[in-house]
Amino acid sequence: MARLDLHGIHKEFGEVTALAELSLEVESGELVSLLGPSGCGKTTALRIVAGFEQPTRGELLVDGSDVIPVPASKRNMGMVFQAYSLFPNMTARQNVEFGLRMRKVARDKCRARAAELLELVGLAARVDNYPHELSGGQQQRVALARALAIEPAILLLDEPLSALDAKVRVDLRQQIRHVQQRLGITTLYVTHDQEEALSISDRIAVMSDGNLEQVGAPAEIYRSPHTEFVANFVGLMNGFDGRVQAADMVTIGSSERPIGVHEGHGCTAGGRVLVLIRPESVQLEELVDGAAVPDGAFEGKVLMHTFLGSVTRMNLSSDVGDLVADVPSLRALTMPPDTRVGVRVDPAGVKLLAR
Ligand SMILES: Nc1ncnc2c1ncn2[C@@H]1O[C@H](COP(=O)(O)OP(=O)(O)O)[C@@H](O)[C@H]1O
Ligand SMILES: [Mg+2]
Repeated sequence: MARLDLHGIHKEFGEVTALAELSLEVESGELVSLLGPSGCGKTTALRIVAGFEQPTRGELLVDGSDVIPVPASKRNMGMVFQAYSLFPNMTARQNVEFGLRMRKVARDKCRARAAELLELVGLAARVDNYPHELSGGQQQRVALARALAIEPAILLLDEPLSALDAKVRVDLRQQIRHVQQRLGITTLYVTHDQEEALSISDRIAVMSDGNLEQVGAPAEIYRSPHTEFVANFVGLMNGFDGRVQAADMVTIGSSERPIGVHEGHGCTAGGRVLVLIRPESVQLEELVDGAAVPDGAFEGKVLMHTFLGSVTRMNLSSDVGDLVADVPSLRALTMPPDTRVGVRVDPAGVKLLAR
């Protein structure tokens, strides 16, 4: 079991700052995701940890020891890449055995270890297949087994699911998590897919443009984003200019009708804020035949439905501007486009950021 520490890891490629003083700790046995859009520095961070790239400055510690001077081949890390990284002329078993052979492990031990790992990733029946005889998902499971074969202290995965189709992605991410927890292996997992990061991680490190925006457990990142970037990158978010009226009250835009917020948001009364509201926290009620807008609600009109399965995403215009609401699909059927609605917001789903 190993603990990984990045302290002020900085990386410049010529004029480009790929990483700006990245500091992050991964506890022993923990899975931390680096989540951010393309180009934000995720792969660079992973390659520096693996030893394929040297940082411009900064410290990298495994169990408290500096590993910057240690070459990649001696760092004892297993790596899984995006896709197509298996040796095409070797069977699944030979691919998994490869690292062990390089380390001069005895032939029968190699065999036993490869069999064990291919079984762990559910491929016991495919040991003698070549990569071209395996599906994309199966190939990535072989890649995972190959990375684990050398019993690495740390597992590094760089968008391992991005080349696979949706259903396989979901199955395989669960399997990766299962194997990771079963072995208790310290893991750094790179993805640009927020749903993937939310579902697989102990903690998520959200990155933007070489900077670390926020680190936290998935639910914390989702419920309590610290920056506008995190709020918008992790899940869909409604955002409005607002003003704090009282500890538990804000107004949005030019509307006079306050909406309730939970206290403890830390923004001062009178101050300008960004009011963030998750689509699932928007509650709608149909207003029949010119009915008055109820207390605590504001008026809206349904513009469009997008059916997403269990929920329907509804675009609305309202007194305070356009917004998006996720409504259980059965309930959405009663509010087709053009329906006049009262809009309420669950105070627990409102987050304020000082402007
Ligand atoms: N070898 C390199 N030479 C020059 N620029 C690079 C190199 N590798 C990455 N970069 C730049 O560093 C930034 C971060 O890239 P990368 O780490 O690949 O991001 P991500 O994996 O998040 O998409 C990008 O602007 C990219 O163009
Ligand atoms: Mg990348």
